[in-house]
Amino acid sequence: MCGIVGAIAQRNVAKILLEGLSRLEYRGYDSSGVAINNEVGVRAHRAVGKVQALKNKFEATPLDGKIGIAHTRWATHGKPTENNAHPHFSGDDLAIVHNGIIENHEKLRTRLKEQGYVFKSETDTEVIVHLIHYELRDESDFLLAVKNALKYLEGAFAIAVTLNDQNHRLVAARKGSPLVVGVGIEENFVASDQLALLHVTDQFVFLEEGDVVEVTRDGVTIFDSKDVIQERPVHVFNHNVDATDKGEFRHYMMKEIYEQPKVIAACLEGRISDNKVLTDCFGVDSSFLKSVENVHIIACGTSYHAGMVAKYWIEDLANLPCTVEVASEYRYRKVAVPKDTLFLTLSQSGETADTLAALRKAKELGYLTSLAICNVPSSTLVRESALTLLTNAGAEIGVASTKAFTTQLTALLITSIAIASEKEALSAIKEAELVNSMRSLPAHIDEALKQDVAIKKVSDRFANKHNALFLGRGPMFPIALEGSLKLKEISYIHAEAYPAGELKHGPLALVDEDMPIITMVPHNSMLDKLKSNLQEVAARGGELYVFADKDAELQNTEGVIFTEVPKVDEILEPIVHTIPLQLLSYHVAVVKGTDVDQPRNLAKSVTVE
Ligand code: AGP
Repeated sequence: MCGIVGAIAQRNVAKILLEGLSRLEYRGYDSSGVAINNEVGVRAHRAVGKVQALKNKFEATPLDGKIGIAHTRWATHGKPTENNAHPHFSGDDLAIVHNGIIENHEKLRTRLKEQGYVFKSETDTEVIVHLIHYELRDESDFLLAVKNALKYLEGAFAIAVTLNDQNHRLVAARKGSPLVVGVGIEENFVASDQLALLHVTDQFVFLEEGDVVEVTRDGVTIFDSKDVIQERPVHVFNHNVDATDKGEFRHYMMKEIYEQPKVIAACLEGRISDNKVLTDCFGVDSSFLKSVENVHIIACGTSYHAGMVAKYWIEDLANLPCTVEVASEYRYRKVAVPKDTLFLTLSQSGETADTLAALRKAKELGYLTSLAICNVPSSTLVRESALTLLTNAGAEIGVASTKAFTTQLTALLITSIAIASEKEALSAIKEAELVNSMRSLPAHIDEALKQDVAIKKVSDRFANKHNALFLGRGPMFPIALEGSLKLKEISYIHAEAYPAGELKHGPLALVDEDMPIITMVPHNSMLDKLKSNLQEVAARGGELYVFADKDAELQNTEGVIFTEVPKVDEILEPIVHTIPLQLLSYHVAVVKGTDVDQPRNLAKSVTVE
């Protein structure tokens, strides 16, 4: 994931762009660059490493100008080198910055080479700038040349382009990657994220899919996907909202629960196209996907539960054996590693001591490669793993993991589909169906959140409870484990989770009128078996809290409290069914009066053994 900024003003834009890059550094951190368009042409500085390295270059050799574009990169095509850093040029007067992945870049590169273009980088981005240059041979209008070039591109992108001509403008476009316009007074801007422009404006226009925008000092003209000019509303940024601000919420945990539709969309951004997972999202080398024969997943706590769900997906979709283990066990035992095994770590923080120790041990054991699914780009886990897939959940401050968990699941689903597809275990039709389902996830999460008030009412019944039992079958068993962990860590109610089929092998002895039993009943092939398990509980006077979609045909009856969950495709059920459990544990903790965001004895990042 990369970040882009563009500016056109009456003043020198270099400082504005550099500050914008610092604010966008969370999106990519391996290299950066700025191109300044002035009377002498378009000139750029690029640097490997943090934005500070680029700032040092500007200090040593300033570039001044009133039009510019800038970029912070997270390498996908080509290593993080200065040559691969953006902006990329075609000739001396045309430069581009790009966020996203151009899927058909190889085909375009071959065609452009035939036209005499010489490529200076390994990036997919360079084909776009040469394409625009090629279009400018026949079309003198810069805006039309960009529009023509975009017709050849397949994949996801946001771009900003500058040309040294008499017209003093920037052209930008988005398809699949975010882009906002920042509106100033006699100056205007574009960026991947409004946070990048808060030092110069608080007025933003959010571009839509397929939009192309012409930005001048005096105004902004937006052309939609049908090339029709559109007026889009200007939104004023609420300065009270940032990652360290609870906003309208009483606790960070609730704020983070409500952020899930947005962060899941961010996790999907640039990783899926219309019909498939974009395998380049794993970084420069995604060839491991074809070679992998086994998967070992290692994690702790909530992250471990996400890994347990992935086992079902990997074995089901890719037909590959997958084992999941807590890091604190793995690190101290003798491990047999089958040939071509992927070592996959999961961690919100990327700083969990046991997970890091497991990774260091694994490096000695001859794994195929190591992949970290992590939320913190600058973390040790990311730095020490061969490959990374960032979850893009944004800072999670509440100790109880919520949005970090559902974005881990989203990233794991992307990974499972990518492996299955590359191993040819998944047909193109099935992959397209799955990707299509994933696209609907944010909307389904939004719908699940609508049960907040109903769940708050249910939570009152837990005020005097001391124990709880969570049941689930299939991939819903790890979700039951996660629900029980959430409840115990923030409400201090003792909670356990079992696969529902295990009930009669022991835990049924615990069931009486004081024991709430919480279960998720997805409308899948295990529905009838799970209903039988519920009968076993009801027959013993247990109080059942059932979360199910309406097709499961369950309703409130004596001893059964039913809460509706949106009906979704089976593959999404573990993610969507997590939401009511998060809400339940939150409200129970509030009823109990515990410290929701900083529960006793726990820490957000477990950096010691
Ligand atoms: C969950 O709510 C906890 N915060 C905890 O179990 C956490 O998931 C675990 O400590 C692992 O942390 P990590 O994901 O940062 O590695």
